[in-house]
Amino acid sequence: MMFKSVPRFQFTQFLLDPSQFSLWLFDSVLAMLLCVRKPSEMRRLVLTGVLGVMLGILIGITSTKYEFVARVPLIQVATNAPPQVRHEAYHTGAELLPPGIVVPTTDLFTRRLWGNPADDIPYQPKYLVTFTVGFEQREIIKAAVSKFSKDWTIVFFHYDGRVNEWDQYDWAQRAIHISARKQTKWWFANRFLHPDVVAPFEYIFIWDEDLGVEHFDGEEYIRLVKKHGLEISQPGLEPNRGLTWQMTKRLGNSEVHKNTTEKPGWCHDPYSPPCAGFVEIMAPVFSKSAWRCAWNLIQNDLVHGWGLDFALGRCVQPAHEKIGVVDSQYIIHQTVPSLGNQGESQNGRAPWEGVRQRCNYEWQLFRERLRKADQEWQPTGNGTRNHEVKS
Ligand SMILES: *[C@@H]1O[C@H](CO)[C@@H](O)[C@H](O)[C@H]1NC(C)=O
Ligand SMILES: *[C@@H]1O[C@H](CO)[C@@H](O)[C@H](O)[C@H]1NC(C)=O
Repeated sequence: MMFKSVPRFQFTQFLLDPSQFSLWLFDSVLAMLLCVRKPSEMRRLVLTGVLGVMLGILIGITSTKYEFVARVPLIQVATNAPPQVRHEAYHTGAELLPPGIVVPTTDLFTRRLWGNPADDIPYQPKYLVTFTVGFEQREIIKAAVSKFSKDWTIVFFHYDGRVNEWDQYDWAQRAIHISARKQTKWWFANRFLHPDVVAPFEYIFIWDEDLGVEHFDGEEYIRLVKKHGLEISQPGLEPNRGLTWQMTKRLGNSEVHKNTTEKPGWCHDPYSPPCAGFVEIMAPVFSKSAWRCAWNLIQNDLVHGWGLDFALGRCVQPAHEKIGVVDSQYIIHQTVPSLGNQGESQNGRAPWEGVRQRCNYEWQLFRERLRKADQEWQPTGNGTRNHEVKS
């Protein structure tokens, strides 16, 4: 029977030790309720369980309290300036491997097929420049490439499929060629310039193909960017060329500038884009760490990158000091219609019209995503935190 192993109650024992009585009672009740043969073991289990739950509740209460206390200053920090580290480092997937063999980053240096790998790269470039190119713009590209010394690794992103035709030029053989028809600079950058792929480079230039570089020199540019602590920058733009923004217009008498005044109503705050903390997406230059952040802002489906320029300030703090325009090394935007013409004409409209419309739509989508992300991330803020233009 089930009661067999229940210790018999002994009155003498009870007299000697009253606690024995309560134990006996407990075991008997357990045995009846749970139909177990060894209630004393069960007792241990149940008691352990109860203790565990109590401990859990205790820990829960304490940590909730702690969190409550800790949260107050966190919110204050967050609304004044976003915290520097936002997310846990992503997992590499290499957890099962011995760390000594794991190579988490790579580079874009070309190697030989023979000899000692250690001697493959006699000179290691420090910077990277990419151009998104069509063959038609080869003369402009040739001039641009000449302004970047052997300190730069050069990558061409081809959007017109005419890769082989560049082979005839010695200077083009210096470059790494990546080809995908009718894709944009940001599509390429998102897919081929992952921060772990361009890890060795101190600065990364992500440039359009229609930039005149007569008044530009790469080495001098780097010197100024370092001198003025610019994490994200661009060369000034020659003014007489239908400019959109005051900020990126080159000033005649300075090395760099980090702010400007716009038309009335364009900047709700002198420390925010497009009056400060702002460069355009046509010829940006990123420090390694700024790019590590900025790459994450690129949306897979928003290929034109419109609106990115207004968000880049989130990647460096304070943005109005670390983003700027280099005036004394400036470029001329040639405004060559290129990728725009690779669109399709629809309903009797020119190809570029459809592309332009898509650009604007992407900008709208990007703004909306960012606003939503801000709200989800910091429900107390109103999502406009120093990054939006009034329009
Ligand atoms: C704008 O730049 C000037 C000169 O560099 C500086 O004195 C001023 O504080 C800057 N203003 C803002 C809003 O960053
Ligand atoms: C919301 O944004 C506006 C600027 O558009 C700012 O003046 C205001 O202080 C912000 N409110 C909060 C609660 O952050």
